[in-house]
Amino acid sequence: MTRPRKLYVKSYGCQMNVYDSHRMADMLAPGGFVETATLDGADLIILNTCHIRERATEKVYSELGRLREMQEAAASEGRRVMVAVAGCVAQAEGQEIIRRAPAVDLVFGPQSYHRLPDMLARAEHGKVIDTEFPVEDKFGQLAPPSRGAMRQRGIAAFITVQEGCDKFCTFCVVPYTRGAELSRPVAAIVAEAERLADAGVREITLLGQNVNAYHGDGPDGRAWTLGKLLHRLAEVPGLARLRYTTSHPRDMVSDSDDSLIAAHRDLPALMPHLHLPVQSGSDRILAAMNRRHTRADYLDVIERLRAARPDIAFSSDFIVGFPGETEDDFRATFELVSEIGYASAYSFKYSPRPGTPAADMAQMPDDVASERLQRLQREIDRLLDRFNAGCLGATLDVLFEKSAKKPGQIVGKSPYLQSVHVMGPTSLIGQIHPVTINELGSYTLSGTLAGGASRHGEAAVLAAAGA
Ligand code: SAH
Ligand code: SF4
Ligand code: F3S
Repeated sequence: MTRPRKLYVKSYGCQMNVYDSHRMADMLAPGGFVETATLDGADLIILNTCHIRERATEKVYSELGRLREMQEAAASEGRRVMVAVAGCVAQAEGQEIIRRAPAVDLVFGPQSYHRLPDMLARAEHGKVIDTEFPVEDKFGQLAPPSRGAMRQRGIAAFITVQEGCDKFCTFCVVPYTRGAELSRPVAAIVAEAERLADAGVREITLLGQNVNAYHGDGPDGRAWTLGKLLHRLAEVPGLARLRYTTSHPRDMVSDSDDSLIAAHRDLPALMPHLHLPVQSGSDRILAAMNRRHTRADYLDVIERLRAARPDIAFSSDFIVGFPGETEDDFRATFELVSEIGYASAYSFKYSPRPGTPAADMAQMPDDVASERLQRLQREIDRLLDRFNAGCLGATLDVLFEKSAKKPGQIVGKSPYLQSVHVMGPTSLIGQIHPVTINELGSYTLSGTLAGGASRHGEAAVLAAAGA
């Protein structure tokens, strides 16, 4: 028997990288790799990287510098530590990573990690780079997670259902790093959801760079929409909550299909919280970004969702300081944020990315962009505080996920993804229970277990039935 080797995977960027990192560990488990939570003593370190903004990429190179020192210290004790760079920086920079970072043994992109065991064996003898977009189906070749691994990852899980992007927003690297849009077949997704539910998972978030453009092959030989897929997943025994992210406003509705909006009306398990990035509130900037919808289109989608599910809350992403953004354009964004009253939002200063069209446009002065970003972030913080304050005294269903730091306390998530702490027994972990909110922290809420009906009573009933 060879001794088990320790694997440390660090994920940067979006949730899809988190999903991919788990699947990399699953691919390596049969070869004797055991995942660890710290760098110490790791035999193989994988950085699963993000290329979305310059800072994200730079973070990877500074981490690689630190790893080089660690690797040399281990080598002086006669121990080899291998370092791999995966994900979107790997895809975008390939060879350049090996040139800049001598620590790196192996570079592979998001579409080739199903070949990881083979690549790793080759990397024992020399540097390996694999950033092909292979013709074979990656998902069909991934190893399934063990039951133990699924349990350890907790009661809320991700499933990638769609990957890649054909939209080519002018600021964005994703179409280049992830490749063309691809939807997984319904049967494969349902089987994965059933396996997770069987291992105790209660909440699933469906992932895709454009998850609502999903159009996977259904068992009836037709392409299914995301709405239809959600209906099917709501039937999986044990699953109490469904979410999906990230959506593009253009794919929320079409002339012939409003099944996704209808799912928000018809499926109690579909949580009333939606991340719907809009990036800007100015039609001029939306056009320059190639978003292919207007501010009015976006407001229309929001209104339809609110009509379908009155308690729905929204979050979004914004880019400030896109090339050519005037004070009026910025004001339009600011006003859109206030008008919609997001529960939360992320805002970023525009970062020119190599190879994207906007990188060649005339750039904004940095201090103007920074000042606008600060203004927008203040408004977003105000709305977040307002949303949380609105929960004070309300009773919300909480899906308990784990013990909290404080003895006797457990923590879970509200339908709106807020962390909620209560004093309660660990036997509630994996259960949905109504909680009356009585305290607001900066990022978490606290409350007490309630006995009666909740604002999301239907979900609680469903959970009790499935438990
Ligand atoms: N597919 C999603 C977003 C993926 S990237 C969508 O269509 O909305 C996540 C977020 O990063 C984007 O929503 C955007 O706000 C931000 N982002 C992407 N490229 C960026 C860039 N070049 N500079 C700053 N922020 C960027
Ligand atoms: Fe990037 Fe636009 Fe595709 Fe989203 S839709 S991943 S922002 S190109
Ligand atoms: Fe980053 Fe790639 Fe995700 S660039 S945001 S890790 S798709």
